Amino acid sequence: MEGLLRRLLALAAPCYVANATPVVVAKILKRRHPIDGGRRFVDGRRILGDGKSIEGFVSGVAAGTAVGLVLDRAGVLHAGEALVLSLGTMLGDTLGSFIKRRLGLERGDPAPLLDQLSFLLVALLMYQLVYGGLDALVTTMLIVVTPPIHLLTNYLAYRLGLKDKPW
Ligand code: CTP
Ligand code: MG
Repeated sequence: MEGLLRRLLALAAPCYVANATPVVVAKILKRRHPIDGGRRFVDGRRILGDGKSIEGFVSGVAAGTAVGLVLDRAGVLHAGEALVLSLGTMLGDTLGSFIKRRLGLERGDPAPLLDQLSFLLVALLMYQLVYGGLDALVTTMLIVVTPPIHLLTNYLAYRLGLKDKPW
């Protein structure tokens, strides 16, 4: 039981920190560069939109990996694992926006489950491809607890004035 909780927290921490960091960075850095360079896809809509910046992506990977360095010292996760989880998180978040734009949703529009899970699913997928060893219980628990945690933390970020949408 104690081992399970440690494993859940060790895997979740880099993902959650990587996912949350761009919100803070976007508040501080006013001049950001969209990953898609402002370009449009064949459907005429933005490839990703202004909500996905290079600064946000890089800071997310860096912050998630930094958490991994602390977890590494504590002996609960290797820094490389945190790097893979953080990179997967930001790629998943970016993929989520690509899908939202293809569905015709504007930047910041809510996309239930996609907004809350795309980052985690790609992070776990990449982790499994690189390291393996994710068991069904840990994976299921992360997928179940992440949407409510994401909704709660986004609402708190909204109340703190960090975000202009409560989701
Ligand atoms: N952000 C960023 N760069 C990223 C990811 C996020 O700068 N790679 C910042 C943006 O200011 C973004 C905010 O974090 O608006 C919240 O992220 P998210 O909810 O993922 O983006 P949305 O604005 O909702 O855009 P989308 O509809 O594409 O998800
Ligand atoms: Mg959003």
